[in-house]
Amino acid sequence: MYDRRHNMMSKKGLQLNLVCIIFLAAIIAVLYLNSGQIFAAVKSPSPKGVEPFEQNKRLGRGVNIIGYDPLWRSRSKARIQSEHFKLIKEAGFSNVRINLHPFQYGNADENNKLSETWFQTLDWAIEQALSNNLMVILDFHEFNAMARDPLGKKARFLAIWKQIAERYKDYPDEVIFEILNEPNRELTPELWNGFLVEALAVIREKNPLRTVIIGPANWNNINYLEKLEIPENDRRIIVTIHYYSPMEFTHQGAGWTSYKDKVGVQWNGTSEEQQAIIRDFDKAQAWAKKHNRPISLGEFGAYDKADMPSRARYTSFVVRQAEKMGWSWAYWQFDSDFIVYDIPNKKWVEPIRDALIPPG
Ligand code: BGC
Repeated sequence: MYDRRHNMMSKKGLQLNLVCIIFLAAIIAVLYLNSGQIFAAVKSPSPKGVEPFEQNKRLGRGVNIIGYDPLWRSRSKARIQSEHFKLIKEAGFSNVRINLHPFQYGNADENNKLSETWFQTLDWAIEQALSNNLMVILDFHEFNAMARDPLGKKARFLAIWKQIAERYKDYPDEVIFEILNEPNRELTPELWNGFLVEALAVIREKNPLRTVIIGPANWNNINYLEKLEIPENDRRIIVTIHYYSPMEFTHQGAGWTSYKDKVGVQWNGTSEEQQAIIRDFDKAQAWAKKHNRPISLGEFGAYDKADMPSRARYTSFVVRQAEKMGWSWAYWQFDSDFIVYDIPNKKWVEPIRDALIPPG
């Protein structure tokens, strides 16, 4: 009796052990596969193509970075460091929009060839973002030069896109290309519709599956969405808009604008102030629904000269409205001006950070 029972027990024990071993093996296999995916995303990537609405959801909350960082002149002068990417992730952001100025500081030679140094700096920034699980938007930020002389700069613009598209063609889906920040002035809506088709064709040669961001003319203005013509059959596209309305509030005291001389403008979140934003966003949303395109709010914010309580109120209202609409977003910007992080003093500008990503 005892023996039989004992036998039965050891059989049961054996079965139990087997179940445990299979269970553990399954866990190890899942962990291994996942680590492979994470690893693959950074080290041996290749784009598989993600549906653009899904991609927009993954972009989520972001911040513009390094457009005006001296690191492009010399890596030793960089303000941004590895630790900042980690901080950005830990604060709750999920994307960084890297503002690129390839026309400047001799980054591209007279034959439009980009320097290896420039690329290595960009490689580094992308690597930092990906290894912190941040999605990356490569934003061609030469909007001023393109707006002054679009036809004169067109060959340079396309030649540079060709090189960027080649360099990053095997990078994972987490890397997204944005054709041009804020086309404006001489780069009219009509011209822009032609430019974007040509740039998209250059990108698609080597990046058929990559998500590409395109925005309307007149500084990515919501009211110009109606004039934007994107190839109907290319569905791997997210449409971007920028929002700085009312300008007399967001750009008060900003030296590069006509609002430079008037400060002290508040944003109190009155119903009238809120309705103005809601109306604009509803207009963008109606366009997005009609054309079945996801929207990303690629820039917004209020300049440092406005009072902080107004800036925080405004930022919070804009960003929550964007999220209600299901848009992804990227705040302007991490460092330099409109800052959400104070690099020299190693601290977040808390009212802005909390407005963007509410604590808790
Ligand atoms: C420009 C910045 C400017 C910001 C707000 C950006 O697109 O690159 O220079 O500060 O818009 O005006």
